[in-house]
Amino acid sequence: MKRPSYTLHDGFRMPMGFPVAGFASGQRYVPQPGDTFVCTYPKCGTTWTQYILYLLLNGAEPLAPGRRLDSVSPHLEEVGSEVVAALPPPRIVKTHLARERTPWSAAARYVVVLRNPFDCAVSFYHHTRGFVKHYDFADGTFDDFFECFVAGEVDFGDYFDHLLSWIASVHDSNVLVLTYEDMLADTRAAIRRLGGFVGGAAAAAASDTDVVERVVHAASFAGMSRDQQRWSSARPADMPAFVRKGAVAEWEECMTAAQARRLAAQFDARTAGTPAAALWPELLARARA
Ligand code: A3P
Repeated sequence: MKRPSYTLHDGFRMPMGFPVAGFASGQRYVPQPGDTFVCTYPKCGTTWTQYILYLLLNGAEPLAPGRRLDSVSPHLEEVGSEVVAALPPPRIVKTHLARERTPWSAAARYVVVLRNPFDCAVSFYHHTRGFVKHYDFADGTFDDFFECFVAGEVDFGDYFDHLLSWIASVHDSNVLVLTYEDMLADTRAAIRRLGGFVGGAAAAAASDTDVVERVVHAASFAGMSRDQQRWSSARPADMPAFVRKGAVAEWEECMTAAQARRLAAQFDARTAGTPAAALWPELLARARA
């Protein structure tokens, strides 16, 4: 069985070449009032949410093709605390860390975006094979990756550990929990909620219909499919793009029914008795069938 290559650090898998120093220093960052963290497991809508927040805070003006989103909204555990602290406020900070590793402050805000594990696994597979230099997994199969995913042996750890750590904070007043599926179903509503939650200029933008329409347009799947170097390093031409499919229940095309049932059983066992058990009832029913 082929496995992606990772950097193992402190019991944690990171993409190969990911600086270990940033991982340690990022966790020591002291959140400042006005900071908004985008807290996700990989492939759950991180970049989309970061970009919506960026647009809300910047007059819905799209990021120019020559600029990178991570220069204005960096990945905390990649760049470390100093780079984040040097940004002008209000900061939008990306993290894939679980709740207990994420720097916490009652004065900061945390946007948590969750995605169903089936589509997450498929998206993560394409991501892992696409970034050849990071994972050396170009010829890995979905079956190979699926086994790593259900074992939690992928970068940023186990999907369910992350989900359960954040869902426990769902009632905290400085935490907003959204799902990727709800964002797709009603993007305008998600934009308004994000703006209202972040407050200030973002709230003003989200209450202006024209601005919201411009955010919808710039952050649409088509809008973000253009000039993808704004969020992604180069990939070989035969690999899928970073903004790839943007679909719900795509797993039904590439996961076997047995794999879907296995992942659904894992979901049921891991989320029992927690608020996460109520997530995605229709999708779970489809996967169990
Ligand atoms: P797929 O691979 O299923 O298409 P992350 O930013 O957390 O890595 O998430 C990446 C996923 O979000 C990919 O899913 C990507 O296509 C999707 N995505 C990115 N921009 C999007 C947009 N504007 N609308 C819908 N989905 C988007």
